[in-house]
Amino acid sequence: MTRRRLIAGNWKMNGLQSARKELVDLIARLGGEAPTDRDVLLCPPATLLADMVRDSADSGVSLGGQDCHYETHGAHTGDISALMLKDAGAGYVIVGHSERRADHGETDEMVKAKAKVAIEAGLIAIVCVGETLAEREADLAFEVVGRQVEGSVPDGASAENCVLAYEPVWAIGTGKVATIDDIAAMHAHIRARLEGMGGAGLKNARILYGGSVKPANAAQIFQTPNVDGGLIGGASLRAGDFFAIISACN
Ligand code: 13P
Repeated sequence: MTRRRLIAGNWKMNGLQSARKELVDLIARLGGEAPTDRDVLLCPPATLLADMVRDSADSGVSLGGQDCHYETHGAHTGDISALMLKDAGAGYVIVGHSERRADHGETDEMVKAKAKVAIEAGLIAIVCVGETLAEREADLAFEVVGRQVEGSVPDGASAENCVLAYEPVWAIGTGKVATIDDIAAMHAHIRARLEGMGGAGLKNARILYGGSVKPANAAQIFQTPNVDGGLIGGASLRAGDFFAIISACN
């Protein structure tokens, strides 16, 4: 079974209007359009989303949100609904990033509800999971990630509307990368959980690796079994680095 690869950039809370030129630069480096054999996605801050959808035009580079609320609309000051992201031209939304779980107290239950409304709005949900360093050192990584997968992926999720992202918390923004053996073992573990939960429909969902992916280590990571692409933070902010990572994912 070959799964279509996805290289996704998460700009986090970075990027003013001037940063839009990075997408323009990226599209130029791609020769005007995204490769036809893999998916390329950028998730900028919400303030840039609609503008960057226009910048992307018909290049084939997709845009996405970094979070959405678990309700469709209502009195939730400062929040963004999945439908609003869709309306702005997003194709994807990241839910349950460890920074949201840690900074905003998001639980598996909330993440599952977010993924559900995202899918219902017609977006592809990228559900993030990953253990902390303390959990890994206590030999709890498989248990924690397995529980997050089962608790955060909603009923109705399938390989078409849901992507998993394994991002060990201790590897995010630290320059530390999990070993290839550890990545392979965790991605196989996640795939087995998906199969157990959703059978054939979910079993082939794409599983991305995230955490200090850079041009220099991307090719090796992307060759690992059950790694179907990457979720890239810092290295997605510059067109040159992100292009090199996209190129390494073939
Ligand atoms: P870095 O690539 O900066 O480590 O961030 C990874 C990440 O959190 C992507 O969502």
